[in-house]
Order: sequence, then C-alpha cells, then structure tokens
Amino acid sequence: MKFSGKPGARCGCCLALFIVPGITLVMFLWSILHPGNPTFSIEKTRFPAVLKFDHKGLNNSSSSSGQLNDTTISLQLTLYNGNRIEGIHYDNVNLNLSYVFTNPNARGHPLRREYSPIDHTTIPAFYQGHRKRAISWVDFSAKKVNWTEVRGLLYSTNNTLIFRLDLATTMRFMINEWNTKTRELIVGANVEISYSGYYQVIDVLSKTT
Ligand SMILES: *[C@@H]1O[C@H](CO)[C@@H](O)[C@H](O)[C@H]1NC(C)=O
Ligand SMILES: *[C@@H]1O[C@H](CO)[C@@H](O)[C@H](O)[C@H]1NC(C)=O
Ligand SMILES: *[C@@H]1O[C@H](CO)[C@@H](O)[C@H](O)[C@H]1NC(C)=O
Ligand SMILES: *[C@@H]1O[C@H](CO)[C@@H](O)[C@H](O)[C@H]1NC(C)=O
Ligand SMILES: *[C@@H]1O[C@H](CO)[C@@H](O)[C@H](O)[C@H]1NC(C)=O
Ligand SMILES: *[C@@H]1O[C@H](CO)[C@@H](O)[C@H](O)[C@H]1NC(C)=O
Repeated sequence: MKFSGKPGARCGCCLALFIVPGITLVMFLWSILHPGNPTFSIEKTRFPAVLKFDHKGLNNSSSSSGQLNDTTISLQLTLYNGNRIEGIHYDNVNLNLSYVFTNPNARGHPLRREYSPIDHTTIPAFYQGHRKRAISWVDFSAKKVNWTEVRGLLYSTNNTLIFRLDLATTMRFMINEWNTKTRELIVGANVEISYSGYYQVIDVLSKTT
C-alpha cells in the first residue's frame, strides 16, 4: 500500500490512530470511575377525595359519608439510570411523605416552613440496568392526617398546598460482578398542588445530592 500524502500527513495519520482510541479509552475509564447519579422525578399523582372542597373551605358534606375512607395519596416515582455502562443496585428505598406548613408561632422565624409527617413506606431493594427507567406507584396512607387542619391550610394559602417527599437510600454501581463502593442517594421533592374544582400539580422540585 502506498501513501499518497507527504510524510508529515502520514505521521498525523498515525497520531490520530492513537489519539482517537486513547480519548475513547480515557472517557470509558472516566465514566467507570465517575458514574452519574440517577435522576429522580415524580410523573403523576393521585390525591384523595377527602381534600375536595370549595375555596371557602370546610364543606361539611365532603367530610361525612364514604369520602373519608379514601385517604390514599399515590405518587408515581421514576428513577432513571442514564449511565452508559453501570447498572445500579439500590438497597431499600425509604420514603417519607409530609405536608408543609408555615408556623406563625415559630420564634424568630415566623415564616419558617415546617413538615407534618403523613406516612412512610419502603421500596424493596432492586437492581436497575444501565440506561433503564424504573417507574413505580407508591401509596401513602393519609388516615392519620388531621384534615381539618389541612383544609384550614388550603384556605389560608389560596387553595395551594405543598407535599414533601423525602427519599433516602444507598446504592452501588455495578459493572458485571464488579461493585463500586456504596454511595448515598438523598432526594427531596416538593409537590405543590392547587385545587379549583380539580387537582393540578403546579410544581415539582427535586434535588439530587
Ligand atoms: C359544619 O358542621 C358543623 C356542625 O355540624 C356546623 O356547626 C358548621 O357550621 C358547619 N360548617 C359549614 C361551613 O357548613
Ligand atoms: C360539598 O361537597 C359535595 C361533595 O363534594 C358537593 O356535592 C356539594 O355541592 C358541596 N357543597 C357546597 C355548598 O359547595
Ligand atoms: C367506609 O368505611 C366504613 C367503615 O369503616 C364502611 O362501613 C363504609 O361502607 C365505607 N364506605 C365506602 C364508600 O367505602
Ligand atoms: C385538628 O386540627 C384542628 C385545627 O388546627 C384542631 O383544632 C384539632 O384539635 C385537631 N384535631 C386533632 C385530633 O388533633
Ligand atoms: C389567589 O388565586 C387567584 C386565582 O389563582 C389569584 O387571582 C389571586 O391573586 C390569589 N390571591 C392571593 C392572595 O395570592
Ligand atoms: C423518615 O422519617 C424517619 C422518622 O422521622 C427518619 O428516621 C428517617 O430518616 C426519614 N427518612 C427519610 C428518607 O427522610
């Protein structure tokens, strides 16, 4: 085989033969050593009928009858593993749901947000392949919630209410049988809903650390 170019061009060509696989290899090693955290989102929500009432609040008829039986808040959670190589093994995923209120009596911080727990649940440990999405409906029982208080809150906040989901787990990135060391995943997400005849999720904020 003959090279038609000058010797310099041949040299550049040889260099390119090393540089391109070299860069690919470095990127490959980099992505193995620095896998990215999964991204978390809340795609859909279901709130119970017990919250349904008019803007003026405290519609007595909605707190009587069977509507109080329906006290399940459901959230559809998604974890996406965007890594090109690594699978992720999650230990039990702990979830806490609360609602947010501002305590006007908090000393020094009259507008400080506080959290009133609703329920907690756990997603059992699972494995997620690379570039895979894990989607799960999670139910929280809102039986213990003081709905009188929550309705009062809705009334005082122009029919909007913030629910807070806290997620905590530990995970290991896996390439075949090889594990990285354990890393913590802690996410907090606010789901802000408004009610004006129907529920509307108006904001979801999430943060991965
Ligand atoms: C709700 O019911 C209580 C007692 O049954 C009554 O005193 C109150 O006025 C009612 N409130 C409304 C908004 O209808
Ligand atoms: C109270 O709620 C019930 C059931 O949601 C509804 O049918 C009724 O119209 C409401 N009452 C008022 C005064 O809006
Ligand atoms: C609500 O619960 C009570 C008892 O806990 C039951 O008798 C009633 O049938 C239930 N109503 C609905 C609509 O599920
Ligand atoms: C529920 O909240 C209302 C309003 O804040 C309060 O007056 C009532 O005592 C609470 N009920 C319970 C069982 O805590
Ligand atoms: C309450 O909500 C209505 C409708 O979204 C809006 O027009 C109004 O300005 C809000 N009031 C306050 C005090 O935020
Ligand atoms: C949930 O609440 C419990 C009790 O307050 C706490 O020990 C746990 O760390 C919380 N978990 C999350 C994920 O925030």
